[in-house]
Amino acid sequence: MKPPKSVFACTECGSQSQKWLGRCPDCGSWNSFVEEKLAPAGGGKPAAMPAMGGGAARLYDDVDAVVTERLSTGIGEFDRVLGGGIVPGSLVLLGGEPGIGKSTLLLQAAAHFAQAVGPVLYCSGEESEHQVKMRGERLGVGRAPLYLLAETCLERVIEETLRLKPALLIVDSIQTVFSLKLASAPGSVGQVRQAATDLLFNAKGHNIPTVLVGHVTKDGSLAGPKVLEHVVDTVLYFEGARHHSHRVVRAVKNRFGAISELGVFEMTSAGLKAVPNPSAMFLAERPKQAPGSAVLCCIEGSRPILVEVQALVSAATFGNARRTAVGLDQTRLALLLAVLDKRAGLNLATDDVFVNVAGGMSVEEPAADLAVLAAVASSLRNRPIQDDTVVFGEVGLAGEVRSASQAALRVREAQQLGFTRCVVPEGNLSPSDVPNGMKIIGVRTVADALDAVM
Ligand code: TYD
Ligand code: MG
Repeated sequence: MKPPKSVFACTECGSQSQKWLGRCPDCGSWNSFVEEKLAPAGGGKPAAMPAMGGGAARLYDDVDAVVTERLSTGIGEFDRVLGGGIVPGSLVLLGGEPGIGKSTLLLQAAAHFAQAVGPVLYCSGEESEHQVKMRGERLGVGRAPLYLLAETCLERVIEETLRLKPALLIVDSIQTVFSLKLASAPGSVGQVRQAATDLLFNAKGHNIPTVLVGHVTKDGSLAGPKVLEHVVDTVLYFEGARHHSHRVVRAVKNRFGAISELGVFEMTSAGLKAVPNPSAMFLAERPKQAPGSAVLCCIEGSRPILVEVQALVSAATFGNARRTAVGLDQTRLALLLAVLDKRAGLNLATDDVFVNVAGGMSVEEPAADLAVLAAVASSLRNRPIQDDTVVFGEVGLAGEVRSASQAALRVREAQQLGFTRCVVPEGNLSPSDVPNGMKIIGVRTVADALDAVM
């Protein structure tokens, strides 16, 4: 039997199949299979793989525990998501939708890095050197050893890297580079994998930290960053609604730091500006004494952030009542409303319920439960929650309020923003954790909590 000339690969997860499939059996996405040529173009000779550590096995005891130094990118919020800066020789993937600000952030970081640490090579496969320069002018990039290379051929990028020996390599974006070793088109699963693997060996072998940009596209026409997550050391995602000026960079994988660490930026006419106090930004436009608004203190990575949870309960006009959650999990909302009905006697069967986390933030942790219920109950009863109150706690199906992690940290953040009351799970805080001037109300059930907040 002749070996197949092409293979079909899922652009979402990289799963391969001999035949085209409508639905990926591995990740379940629809219509994500594309055909890729298998025959290598460059004579089929695989390139020699550089060894990462000299080739021979070493005894665990003989390996010195180097304290990994961090190279600062000069942007505090970016360093924070990276776990304190870039680790030499590491490979970082920065994913996000097109136009969200990946190139902007990296150019800013590159400029700082070039000034403070050493030369930076910025390879752009999407923009010409002039375009990058124009953006740089806008961002106020000063004199620094920052090299630009408009190139899509991977071998050329690596050749130029070896010539310049930069302190940092940026490849914008991984979907535009292609390797001569493969015949498939740039952006295909095979190419993206090959490029990332070659850049990985380059980064480890020559100790050049490398940042890859990866576009996330809804239709899956380009191989998404998901395909690369296991290859790289750190995966960062750029989030944020396009019509909001703030952007959040979140670490979803980090071999050198905490995950779900978060950096908050604001997109301005002069590039991305770090937001040192996100809580103040998210609460800036909070209406006073408005029913349906609760302030939650959530923990993102290692940092507490105050956000406003808003709810609107209105009579359903026809048919089934609607439950809509923005910035929260839909299923979680349905579950919480059922608890509210059964355990606190608030009947919402004939009402539409809308819940929104203000400012375009999304909250995933269960400690948000109590704030969601408080906001819904407040809107239903049309009575505002006291302005000086912060709420957090997980809610169980029996209507019990369960403790949340790092309660002391949350309470301290609330105090720093001028809040004086916290409704928290009972027993979640030891008295020594309570700052002066803060009133802590411990609650055991949802019903208690609703009495306490209103
Ligand atoms: P960009 O970094 O090009 O996005 P990506 O690389 O993720 O595709 O960001 C482009 C958007 O940012 C664009 O819509 C314009 C906006 N922008 C500003 O608002 N201010 C600026 O200073 C810059 C450079 C871009
Ligand atoms: Mg870009």
